[in-house]
Amino acid sequence: MGELKGKKILVTGGAGFIGYHLCKKLSSLASNLTIYDNLSSGKMENVKDAPNAKFVKGDILDLKKLCSLEKADLIYHLAAQVVVPYSMENPLIDFETNAKGTVQVLEKTRKDDAKLVFASSAAVYGNPTVFPTPEEYGFHPFSCYGLSKVVGEEYCSMYQSQYGLDITVLRFANVYGLRCHGVIHDFLDKLAKNPGKLEIIGTGLQSRDFVHVSDVVDALVTVGSEDSANGKTYNIGYGTTTTIIDLAKMMLKILNLEKKTFITTTGVSWQGDVTKIWFDNSKAKKELNWNPKVSLEDSIKEVIADRKLSK
Ligand SMILES: NC(=O)c1ccc[n+]([C@@H]2O[C@H](COP(=O)([O-])OP(=O)(O)OC[C@H]3O[C@@H](n4cnc5c(N)ncnc54)[C@H](O)[C@@H]3O)[C@@H](O)[C@H]2O)c1
Repeated sequence: MGELKGKKILVTGGAGFIGYHLCKKLSSLASNLTIYDNLSSGKMENVKDAPNAKFVKGDILDLKKLCSLEKADLIYHLAAQVVVPYSMENPLIDFETNAKGTVQVLEKTRKDDAKLVFASSAAVYGNPTVFPTPEEYGFHPFSCYGLSKVVGEEYCSMYQSQYGLDITVLRFANVYGLRCHGVIHDFLDKLAKNPGKLEIIGTGLQSRDFVHVSDVVDALVTVGSEDSANGKTYNIGYGTTTTIIDLAKMMLKILNLEKKTFITTTGVSWQGDVTKIWFDNSKAKKELNWNPKVSLEDSIKEVIADRKLSK
């Protein structure tokens, strides 16, 4: 990955979960790295492991500040409002951050004539009817979050065709790993409060494609350094699907709680929740020579151990 060495790299949302892992990796590959984050959900402790990086506290909605940053060669746009139920309760705020915010980052990209890598999501597919779902399944968003990611992708496509920018879109499935948020984190929170009961929101039969953050970082670094990825969109998922109830059972087994914890389900999930995510990742495997290496069972122990240590 020597191609990144001399590049000036900007990461929006670099103080978040994926940003933490990406910037840690990038700081070993490149000497000029800037993290731009408003710390709305990100944390300062997440930028400490990228010692070469310069941190700037700022909002992607502040175009003046964003454009006053040093000229970049490569921009990773990760900053976003990422909570689906929040997007359903606050569509305007979600739109501002994810849709308008992406256009602002595209403006910075245009000004700098940089290359952009945009973090999109499985949410653009909504509730797919084709499994595993390939990239060409197209846009069928089922939540305001999904729709705001569609708008971001469409603007990326416009800036690519009309301004000739080099842009790669990566659609992530459910990313997990150390410092993650989401269902694994929520289960650990619930069990810490009451190990006797684990409530699953929904039926528990909804399923997800869990991809480890180290595999996501590999994909981000690969597309950032290879011109052949310009103008392309890739699914980044492990390529299997796991029901939430099986995830709960897997976690209880590792925690030695399988006989002590009673699993319940609410039956009804939150608005915008989807039934099944299962990515066809063959395009990324073939064209990027990317292969997810970490399976859920192998690494969930690591996530659980880390949570215990940091308590
Ligand atoms: N984690 C997943 O499972 C997953 C799945 C699909 C897509 N994604 C996408 O990947 C990206 C990173 O996700 P994550 O899981 O690391 O989320 P995260 O919430 O941990 O990180 C997002 C970061 O963006 C920052 N941010 C939010 N609004 C901002 C603003 N207006 N200006 C500047 N910074 C702002 C937050 O402070 C945070 O540090 C997001 O774009 C998300 O939509 C994540």
